[in-house]
Amino acid sequence: MSNDPLLQPYRLRHLTLRNRIMSTAHEPAYSEDGMPKERYRLYHAEKAKGGIALTMTAGSAVVGQDSPAAFGNLHAYKDEIVPWLRELADACHEHGSAIMMQITHLGRRTNWNKADWLPVLAPSPVREPAHRAFPKEAEDWDIDRIVGQYADAAERMQAGGLDGIELEAYGHIMDGFWSPATNHRDDQWGGSLDNRLRFTWAVLDAIRARVGDGFLVGIRMVADEDWGKGLSREEGVEIARRLAGSGKVDFLNLIRGHIETDAVLSKVIPIQGTPAAPHLDFCGEVRAETKFPVFHAARINDVATARHAVAEGKLDMVGMTRAHIADPHIVNKVAAGRETDIRPCVGATYCLDRIYEGHEALCIHNPATGRERTIPQIVTRSTGPARKVVIVGAGPAGLEAARVAGERGHAVVLFEAADRPGGQVRLAARVPRRRELIGIVDWRVEQCARLGVDMRFNTYAEAADVLAEAPDVVLIATGGLPNTAIVAGDDLAVSSWDILSGDAKPGERVLVYDDNAAHQGLSAAEVLANAGAQLEIVTPERFFAADIGGLNHVAYAEAFDRAGARITINKRVVGVRRSGNGLIAEIGSDYSERIEEREVDQVVVEHGTLPLDEVYFALKPLSRNSGEMDYEALIAGAPQTVTRNPEGAFQLFRIGDAVASRNIHAAVYDAIRLVKDL
Ligand SMILES: Cc1cc2nc3c(=O)[nH]c(=O)nc-3n(C[C@H](O)[C@H](O)[C@H](O)COP(=O)(O)O)c2cc1C
Ligand code: SF4
Repeated sequence: MSNDPLLQPYRLRHLTLRNRIMSTAHEPAYSEDGMPKERYRLYHAEKAKGGIALTMTAGSAVVGQDSPAAFGNLHAYKDEIVPWLRELADACHEHGSAIMMQITHLGRRTNWNKADWLPVLAPSPVREPAHRAFPKEAEDWDIDRIVGQYADAAERMQAGGLDGIELEAYGHIMDGFWSPATNHRDDQWGGSLDNRLRFTWAVLDAIRARVGDGFLVGIRMVADEDWGKGLSREEGVEIARRLAGSGKVDFLNLIRGHIETDAVLSKVIPIQGTPAAPHLDFCGEVRAETKFPVFHAARINDVATARHAVAEGKLDMVGMTRAHIADPHIVNKVAAGRETDIRPCVGATYCLDRIYEGHEALCIHNPATGRERTIPQIVTRSTGPARKVVIVGAGPAGLEAARVAGERGHAVVLFEAADRPGGQVRLAARVPRRRELIGIVDWRVEQCARLGVDMRFNTYAEAADVLAEAPDVVLIATGGLPNTAIVAGDDLAVSSWDILSGDAKPGERVLVYDDNAAHQGLSAAEVLANAGAQLEIVTPERFFAADIGGLNHVAYAEAFDRAGARITINKRVVGVRRSGNGLIAEIGSDYSERIEEREVDQVVVEHGTLPLDEVYFALKPLSRNSGEMDYEALIAGAPQTVTRNPEGAFQLFRIGDAVASRNIHAAVYDAIRLVKDL
């Protein structure tokens, strides 16, 4: 048996967890009608197959109707959840993983204008800025009801065959009672720590009365709000100590920080560009003080850090939550000595931001996660004939296509005009804060090398170069080039690429016109802000950075705030003209004829890319399908069989930004969705 600390079993009362790696609660918003149906089940079962010891399902499964789902949360208050839980539990148990569910009452961390339109409530009527509801102060009958609802929900979890539950106590109702920032009551539920804990004991007693001692009950709790007016470390650790000594809970899953705004949430769930495992030492201290089972997750996204956490006795169970969204087979790969094959979590936090912005968690570079029914996590070898696949362009789409074609057992040639692979991802990763993005490229290049893909850099492939390979299939993944032509006089402007690549030196007075609202323009603006430019960002959108989620927004907002940048919404830059040594930006809007002017040194225009499609159109008449993609077949996961030109010798497809300006996820999804069926 391995002596890897991560692979040692862990005994949690009667339950043996097969190793030390878990996925902490997170709501991927895969629920359907509030139930964990097939998509939910396949998602968790994949991690179980991948060797994980414990998957904490849901994230904040809600116990009552006045805690309406804020981000696709499961409805733990409905009896109809039980059969779905059984299927979910069976699917995980079948592959040897334990399964629990986090339940909660969201308190003020939701909104009233949905589901049953009941008022949101909290210990005191203190608004949570992130979800923006004004809560009512919970009355005695609310508290009685909610205590009962927790017990009902716990009973459903037990009836569903789960191994246990976890109560959420950070930013929700339970810790709302603990924190002086959110509990201003002067009755028996507020004031002294004893009073502030009364609700917690009431809930735990009600749950234990219902589920007995044989069912595992843990708590995911804040043990230090790290907030002047909030729960201090001293009181937080005292709560941990009391819970540990109560005999009412079986584990503590620790949180440090508070989550009422995106800015502070990003300290609890840190994204790329921040140090790894920022709260690990704190958790180790609480573990030492309580001598109780401690779980924890916060940016422990590599195996070495996870191993350190266990080996040094800081944690009993290590949460690698986003790491499993990026690669659900981490444990199997560790056990097989294939750590370098683990698809890295690059901390982009596209996953979490999308539960609000896109209503489903998706990994920036693993399109199979959440799509286990249609996209394989492990691509298998084709049973058909090996084919010659030629790919032009080694950005994310081309690299993913090459990797998947290699896994299918085809002979793959990958042309890239630049001296290195990566395309726009390499450009994005030039910003130091986002440098981890290069993992998206490096992992694929390593996989391609393992699979024997013939990668030819510094090769600007034209149609003749492609034809010389006598391909069966040609994939054009040439990406695009910035489109600045939306502004009159754009020859006087530069693109966000020019700033990111360093080709254009930052000016002193700079106007960034962001008519894309994605990372490209904001990253360029961040570079400019950090270079000390006097910066104005202009966007025609109603909201700033419309396509950037809450957590990704934080670092940009910090940089712009630090630099004193001016942010102007609802405005369109219509033209740029020269004025002496400088430039005049002409700014209009969709709402009136008025034009304003700004005197600046540099105008940066971001409006996505236009496809680089010459080689595609040159090859199109020679191809069998004339470049046609059968969308029905693509969606159904069936091979492409279109013939428009029987004389054509090969199939031709365009993927990624070579079709239209989109993002990294779209590029890799385009690639795997098509190539897995070759
Ligand atoms: C999509 C998503 C949804 C989440 N929802 C919850 C939740 O409902 N409850 C919870 O306690 N934590 C939630 N989390 C936080 C995770 O449990 C975990 O603390 C966080 O991702 C940091 O751990 P990691 O760095 O290993 O990913 C969520 C995380 C993600 C990525
Ligand atoms: S989107 Fe980014 S943070 Fe989320 S799992 Fe994927 S790589 Fe990790």
